[in-house]
Amino acid sequence: MTSTPQPITEPGPDVLADKARDHLWMPFTRHSHFYDGSGHVPVIVRGEGAYVFDDQGKRYLDGLAGLFTVQAGHGRASIGQAMARQAEELAFFPIWSYAHPRAIELAERLADYAPGDLNRVFFTSGGGEAVETAWKLAKQYFKLTGQPTKHKVISRSVAYHGTPHGALSITGIPDAKVDFEPLVPSAVKVPNTNFYRAPDEYQHDEKAFGRWAAERIAEAIEFEGPNSVAAVFLEPVQNSGGCFPPPPGYLERVREICDQYDVLMVADETITAFGRIGDMFAMNRFGVTPDIITCAKGMTSGYAPMGAMIASERLFEPFRHGTNTFLHGFTWSGHPVGAAAALANLDIFESEGLNAHVRENESRFRQTLEKLLDLPIVGDVRGAGYFYGIELVKDKITRETLSDDEAERVLRGFLSKALFDAGLYCRADDRGDPVVQLAPPLIIGQPEFDEIEQILRSVLSEAWTLL
Ligand SMILES: Cc1ncc(COP(=O)(O)O)c(C=O)c1O
Repeated sequence: MTSTPQPITEPGPDVLADKARDHLWMPFTRHSHFYDGSGHVPVIVRGEGAYVFDDQGKRYLDGLAGLFTVQAGHGRASIGQAMARQAEELAFFPIWSYAHPRAIELAERLADYAPGDLNRVFFTSGGGEAVETAWKLAKQYFKLTGQPTKHKVISRSVAYHGTPHGALSITGIPDAKVDFEPLVPSAVKVPNTNFYRAPDEYQHDEKAFGRWAAERIAEAIEFEGPNSVAAVFLEPVQNSGGCFPPPPGYLERVREICDQYDVLMVADETITAFGRIGDMFAMNRFGVTPDIITCAKGMTSGYAPMGAMIASERLFEPFRHGTNTFLHGFTWSGHPVGAAAALANLDIFESEGLNAHVRENESRFRQTLEKLLDLPIVGDVRGAGYFYGIELVKDKITRETLSDDEAERVLRGFLSKALFDAGLYCRADDRGDPVVQLAPPLIIGQPEFDEIEQILRSVLSEAWTLL
């Protein structure tokens, strides 16, 4: 059946938002909000540098780099051009026993950036798949090397590691898991490194707190039985809960514990890699070499979906010989257009010195955010690089947190929308204690730090009056 061609017209205000409400099932989204009259779906149509614009033409500072992703900023023509060239030359070919130039070049480059002998790059489409891949590799590696009972994983409370069943088991957020139980068994949790909420006896000694937290991993391995534990998964700086940097000595001690019990140390760098902490991999900055790194997001600055598991030579060794095969992979593993985007993005990192820019400016970012500590609602400002969490409290002296009802009313009901309305896109999160999370594009400097601080100051001051 033919139909008369319709003129192409720009949709009027709210038309796209209504269509989004009616057809787009959005991840981690409470959809009732768009039907009960309390909100409409914000539609972002364009990005430029550190800013994005909605369908009404309003500008927002992208305080979260999309989703911890757009490191090089929005609107980078060189990345788009590299992707277009690659799509014309070879849009797709799998790397299942074949290869193509961009996947080869990217694998070599990532191996170069990675610490130690982490030279074996297994591509995925994102972070959750990289975490799945790492757990499966850990299990198979021990089966192939004569320790077939080693299969359990240890990870940290409140940490987020993705939504596939295995990655969700590793995730330490009970509310994100309960609806999907039973999950993959054998995932054990230990305390994270939230120094602000450290046990009383460690409140004034970060190093001792780090030692205590690391020893909880040794304790869990002993309790589960060293012959049953395959891997420890941790983020160098934990995102969920609001930016927990590693206390001095913590990562070094975890490395020792993993060596002592022959347990693999997996650094989930889905957020922390590619400049977020001022190095291609945060583990380089912290000077500790894990057995596996998982990464994604910033690899392409979000211009294409791409992730990777990067493993040490030791873990590849059993697969070098005979019939041993890692029966695992994804159609999009090493996608040529994604790999071209990643290479062009990494070129920007090199030519503009983005890692050095973060290292030069990180203390100014911290100092600017720390000004907010004079507000009664701001209990803690913590983080590293261009990655910060601001914890909100009811009482700064006692560190009393918000009740569930207050978090619902102030965080969900007011803060997220008020920040956005004031021109700052960031995240108010209560997966742990209530925090505002910041992870802006790595290109910003003092003027944008000031803009972030001023918007937060005004909106958090108003939030305080609602408690
Ligand atoms: C530490 C960490 N691991 C894994 C994931 C999951 O990544 P993806 O959403 O690409 O599957 C995330 C996502 O934010 C993450 O922060």
